[in-house]
Amino acid sequence: VTGNSALRTIRLSAGAAIVAWTVAVLLSHQLYVRDARRGVVALATTQARAAFQKDLSYRRWVTERGGVYAVVDARTPPNPYLDAPGRDLVAGGRHLTLVNPAYLTRQVLDDERRRGGPISRIASLTPKNPANAAVGWERGALAQIARGAPEVAEESGGDHPVLRYMGAIRTEERCVVCHTDARVGELRGGISVEVPMADYLVVSGAQARIAWGHLVVWALGAAGIALFALLASRRERERERAREERATLEQELAHARRLEALGRLAGGVAHDLNNLLSPILGNAALALERVRDPELQQDLEDIREAGQRARVLTQQLLAFGRKQVLCLEALEPSDAVAAIVPMIRRLVGAAVEVRPELTVGLPAIRADRAQLGAALLNLASNARDAMPAGGVLTLRTSLVELDGGRAGRLRLAAGRCVAIEVTDTGVGMDEGTRARIFEPFFTTKASGHGLGLASVHGTVRQFGGAVEVESAPGRGATFRVILPALDESPAPARTPPAVAEAPRGTETILLAEDEPAVRRYVAAVLGSLGYRVLAAGGGAEALALARAHPGEIDALVSDLQMPGMSGPELRGRLAAECPRLVTVFITGLVGDLLGRPPAPLPGALVIPKPFTPDELGVALRRALDGARAGDQPRAASRS
Ligand SMILES: Nc1ncnc2c1ncn2[C@@H]1O[C@H](COP(=O)(O)OP(=O)(O)O)[C@@H](O)[C@H]1O
Ligand SMILES: [Mg+2]
Repeated sequence: VTGNSALRTIRLSAGAAIVAWTVAVLLSHQLYVRDARRGVVALATTQARAAFQKDLSYRRWVTERGGVYAVVDARTPPNPYLDAPGRDLVAGGRHLTLVNPAYLTRQVLDDERRRGGPISRIASLTPKNPANAAVGWERGALAQIARGAPEVAEESGGDHPVLRYMGAIRTEERCVVCHTDARVGELRGGISVEVPMADYLVVSGAQARIAWGHLVVWALGAAGIALFALLASRRERERERAREERATLEQELAHARRLEALGRLAGGVAHDLNNLLSPILGNAALALERVRDPELQQDLEDIREAGQRARVLTQQLLAFGRKQVLCLEALEPSDAVAAIVPMIRRLVGAAVEVRPELTVGLPAIRADRAQLGAALLNLASNARDAMPAGGVLTLRTSLVELDGGRAGRLRLAAGRCVAIEVTDTGVGMDEGTRARIFEPFFTTKASGHGLGLASVHGTVRQFGGAVEVESAPGRGATFRVILPALDESPAPARTPPAVAEAPRGTETILLAEDEPAVRRYVAAVLGSLGYRVLAAGGGAEALALARAHPGEIDALVSDLQMPGMSGPELRGRLAAECPRLVTVFITGLVGDLLGRPPAPLPGALVIPKPFTPDELGVALRRALDGARAGDQPRAASRS
């Protein structure tokens, strides 16, 4: 909204600037044309004034001499309006007549006019000779001079525009000799001059043409304003984009934080549930072996099945809460995906075509093979649900280069990553659904748990990666697991240990577990497998037992977290006497409640709670046999 109003302001100001600029340029053009016209009028006035001054000079000369005598002929008859003694003379046999100033001036001007010279006339206010009377515009001009104007110059339009000029003639001292009724300085009339404007208008016309240069100036200015507005709005749009990006990022961060808080809660609950499930599952299994009554066996079977289901749920919650016990190793991504493809095929069924598009030669990633497989199975099962009528499920691995912006959104470090993509051609999802899919218990399915993607999210983040989702309703969905690329080369694939009947043994096992129910359960399991068990409720008690049975203990089975002394601490103390002590840790969670990934435990096997008697038996046997062969499996004890 703010961006839009800023853009509108820019557009409005640019519009106003263009209008103001146009008005200014138009005004300047008008002034220029007007001044050009005024200039030529002033020039024409100067010319007219000069002509008038000349006429005045000749007239004054004649006035000061009381007139001049001229030979009488047809053009210069005696002046009938001049009533003066000695008007007519005869000299040398020729008739002479006195020509007074007005007579002379009129004769000169009339002659000039006849020859095509300047159009000038005498215009008298009190004419003796009616030919001298002011006519038309001259009367108005003389009236203006009578009111005080020093001279009058005005343009007249029409087909032949002229400049009309009127200069004043006043009574001079010599005048009153003849004109006895006149007073010196009194306005007698004037001489009107008409200057044709044609030549001047050529000049002003040329200047008006030059004034079209204003158009160029206007266009340059307008283009400048438009360019400025364009740049300003582009800058504003960029700013707006940045603002939106920041808002989205903040929203995503807030969402991630909410998920993290949920994860802590879920992880805590799952941990406690796990502790409760261990003895339930374990004791149900033990009881099943002992009980022969089929009805009771069915009841126990029901308990075990419900426990197993609860175990799956708590495992997913632990995964979401990033509290899984992971066996992180450097994996070849395409191999890891290829290994799970047969299981995915079985899971999605025949209606869905599974298309692996795996890139060879990718850098290694750090992940837990089994948990990565579980995450991909989760994604595949969602893809199957999204394609009830069948479709295509593509599994793709590739190298991606995370730039700063994308890395920030995913909360990863920028740089080289490996992407594992699961793409389906299913129903897809809208933005509202997409925003919530990683929340635990968010589901749109009638029989969904809403834990699949939550656990995928937790697992991938525990690997140090992130999940990207692209989807639109009806357009399928792509889930992209992004994991940082490692510099080291991948570990060779391990052949999974063959799962058989729980292997038995006769060795002596030191058991340390503070939870009495779990302790009883583990002791019972180990006892039933043939082992001799020394059970302790904590670290101190375990140390005392070890001292009481020197040289007898073959392996330590200990809880990882116990009040007083932790499992690893206990192992460290025992190692002083028995450096090659085989160790199996059992744990409800690894890592602290701040969500830090579990610290590696060198040389010890870790099995997560809850575990079945078989799992415990297999793990212990593997650890013991590995230690004996001196060639132990990777995670087994090596002190
Ligand atoms: N591939 C997909 N296509 C469309 N929607 C999906 C896809 N994967 C997940 N979803 C949506 O995310 C929701 C949550 O998925 P999930 O956490 O696995 O729980 P569940 O599968 O139990 O519903 C699903 O209910 C569904 O709405
Ligand atoms: Mg699911």
